[in-house]
Order: sequence, then C-alpha cells, then structure tokens
Amino acid sequence: MSALLNNLPSYRRMLEHDLDAIMAIENVVYPHPWTRGNFKDSLREGYHCWVVEAGGEFVGYSVMMVAAGEAHLLNLSIAEPWQRRGCGRELLQFMLKVARDFAAAMIFLEVRPTNVAGLGLYADAGFSEIALRRGYYPARHGREDAIVMRLELI
Ligand SMILES: CC(C)(COP(=O)(O)OP(=O)(O)OC[C@H]1O[C@@H](n2cnc3c(N)ncnc32)[C@H](O)[C@@H]1OP(=O)(O)O)[C@@H](O)C(=O)NCCC(=O)NCCS
Repeated sequence: MSALLNNLPSYRRMLEHDLDAIMAIENVVYPHPWTRGNFKDSLREGYHCWVVEAGGEFVGYSVMMVAAGEAHLLNLSIAEPWQRRGCGRELLQFMLKVARDFAAAMIFLEVRPTNVAGLGLYADAGFSEIALRRGYYPARHGREDAIVMRLELI
C-alpha cells in the first residue's frame, strides 16, 4: 500500500536547487531548451513554478505567469521515461487549477507546429488555436512559427 502511495505524483513549488534536475530534463526533451537563467528569472519574478515527483523520481515541471486575469503557460515538460503515462495531462490540469485559483479567466500558450505531443496534449485539454506567430522560435534552419492557443477558464 505505501509503495503504491509513494508512486502517486506529488506537486510542490520549484526551488533553485531543483535546477540541475530540471536542466537535465530540459536539455533532453527540447531541441531548443530554456537556459538555467530562464528558470532563475521565472523564480525571481515570482511566476508559478511547480515540479512533480513520483516514487522519489523527478517527473516534470511547469512555469506559468498570471497577470491581469490572464495566464500564460510558459513551460510544461515531462521527463522522457514518464511520457505517455498521463503525467502531462495531470500536470496541465494542476496548472489550470492554479490559474483559476489566481483569478485567470483565460490561459494562453505558444507551441511549435512540429510539436505533435504538445499540440495533442493541449487540444485534448480543450485549447483552441487562435493565431500564428511567424518566425517566433529559433529552429535548426532559421526560425519556426508558433501556434498560439487559448482556453477559457470560466
Ligand atoms: C507534451 C508532453 C508534456 C506530454 O506529456 P505526457 O505525459 O507524455 O502526455 P500524457 O501521457 O499526459 O498525454 C496526454 C495526451 O496528450 C497527447 N499526447 C501526448 N504525447 C503525444 C504524442 N507523442 N503524440 C501525440 N499525442 C500525444 C495525447 O492526446 C494524450 O492523450 P492519450 O494518451 O489519451 O492519447 C511531453 O511529451 C513533453 O514533455 N514533451 C517535451 C516538452 C514539450 O514539448 N512540452 C510542451 C511545450 S509547448
């Protein structure tokens, strides 16, 4: 029973000492990862920065900004060994709850058109595509567009 309980995902606020574990995941799951500085800035700015652990392992993390009734999901990542096991969906639902708790009426995010997993996850959660930002992301050859997605929270 306790082994089962130990494997349930638990959520806590990100701390600066998590950044080694986070960078180890970030550098694997993204072709163009955030830098350690991006995470430090997010922590310093007081963004909503959360990590998920299960069974003593680091499963994933997410960073979100909430201001003036709008949330912006800036990063949501699941470590490769934990992918396709429902952890991304659960972490996203957790972040949507945080956004609602902080009075956001809407949440926005950007995702690469080539990010099949990200697009699938967000569509599955009810996000709709509302715009295209041309050349938003760095890419291996030049730049890549971003699809802007939105979900109403109330
Ligand atoms: C996107 C990501 C967070 C999904 O996390 P995950 O834990 O693997 O996803 P889940 O198992 O919770 O899947 C939830 C739904 O997302 C979609 N999905 C997830 N991975 C997918 C994939 N590889 N291909 C297509 N759809 C996918 C599916 O709709 C899935 O539902 P289903 O399993 O019932 O088909 C994960 O792949 C990841 O960390 N990728 C690298 C970082 C990244 O791209 N983050 C998003 C940036 S915008």
